[in-house]
Amino acid sequence: MKVLVTGGIGYIGSHTCIAMIEAGIEPIILDNLSNSKLAVLDRIETLTSIRPVFYQGDVRDQDKLDLIFSEHEISSVIHFAGLKSVGESVAKPLEYFDNNVNGSLVLARSMRKAGVKSIVFSSSATVYGDPKVVPISENSPTGATTNPYGRSKYIVEQCFSDLFAAEPLWSITLLRYFNPVGAHPSGLIGEDPQGMPNNLMPFIAQVAVGRRDFLAVFGDDYDTVDGTGVRDYIHVMDVAAGHIAALKIVGEKAGLHIYNLGTGQGRSVLEMLDAFSLACGKTLPYQILPRRAGDIAQCWASTEKAQQELDWHATRTLNEMAADTWNWQSKNPQGYSDC
Ligand code: NAD
Ligand code: UD1
Repeated sequence: MKVLVTGGIGYIGSHTCIAMIEAGIEPIILDNLSNSKLAVLDRIETLTSIRPVFYQGDVRDQDKLDLIFSEHEISSVIHFAGLKSVGESVAKPLEYFDNNVNGSLVLARSMRKAGVKSIVFSSSATVYGDPKVVPISENSPTGATTNPYGRSKYIVEQCFSDLFAAEPLWSITLLRYFNPVGAHPSGLIGEDPQGMPNNLMPFIAQVAVGRRDFLAVFGDDYDTVDGTGVRDYIHVMDVAAGHIAALKIVGEKAGLHIYNLGTGQGRSVLEMLDAFSLACGKTLPYQILPRRAGDIAQCWASTEKAQQELDWHATRTLNEMAADTWNWQSKNPQGYSDC
């Protein structure tokens, strides 16, 4: 079984490609390298002894997509490609809508032309906005997004839902990730943010390795266990496994399938810092700063639907998330720039 993986050498895509190869699924990767390095392909080959077929190109390039579909008998697509920085999306909304929304539409058109009607889309818990109730189930309200990145995910969900309504032979799976963290246990692949990390775990990792002086904790006056923000952090290897389950269980079934990928457990910023301190064996400095604009107090997933329908649940612990992140960061202090 061949699966086109857009954005396949990015953070989540690279871990998913390894899980696919291990599951006997052949990834065909398309990536424009806007947020990733070719060295990832070498690492995938080292880990699996297989070098995936790779196309350098943009998901908005329909000719390129048509070529890939003509050269391979592809049964499904996993669509990771997109831009993901919330702050950048506020400054560059047109770029975000073009890449994330237009890219998804060009891809869907090319798939239809090629007769490929199975797609797994990387959505985000951000589509739920600020939840009134936790844990968040898949039928919780969506759409109250607070930034262009979040809106781009919500709009693509709407576009794909309308596509399914019009053409019910499609199999469309929307996976709403909570907070993917961690790295492959080998330490050979992991998250390599460009510039200042926006997200908590890579920032903590860079403090631990000495690239940043301290962690700025954005607010300690939320109505949470210790006043800091609470999120559902999930090991990226579990996220990868969720894609394999989705491909195998619903990937061939016509329908609009929607699942949360989370652990069902919320952790505070200070809990994450403690777990990381334990993993790296040193106390990490932090300072309490004001709340970050647009942040919510807490969110975590209801995991029942994915458990029941995909027979999938996250198995890796918080300590594994911290230990694997540290293993990757300490072996690659400058990320893939060390290669
Ligand atoms: P990433 O930036 O590491 O990976 C995205 C990959 O897509 C990169 O390799 C990049 O070069 C490529 N890409 C970007 N635009 C492209 C285009 N137009 N054509 C071809 N390739 C393109 O991001 P990630 O963390 O692996 O996230 C993957 C997907 O999951 C994204 O769609 C993201 O929005 C979504 N998501 C991520 C998170 C998270 O916390 N990492 C959470 C929720 C959803
Ligand atoms: C962010 C995005 C969200 C995206 C998600 C996963 C924002 C507003 N939201 O959410 O759209 O889907 O990442 O990619 O950016 N924190 C600190 N110090 C830091 C960094 C973070 O205290 O240096 C805190 C935050 O205030 C939050 C928690 O850590 O309470 C997690 O932050 P982050 O990793 O950015 O994830 P989200 O806020 O869930």
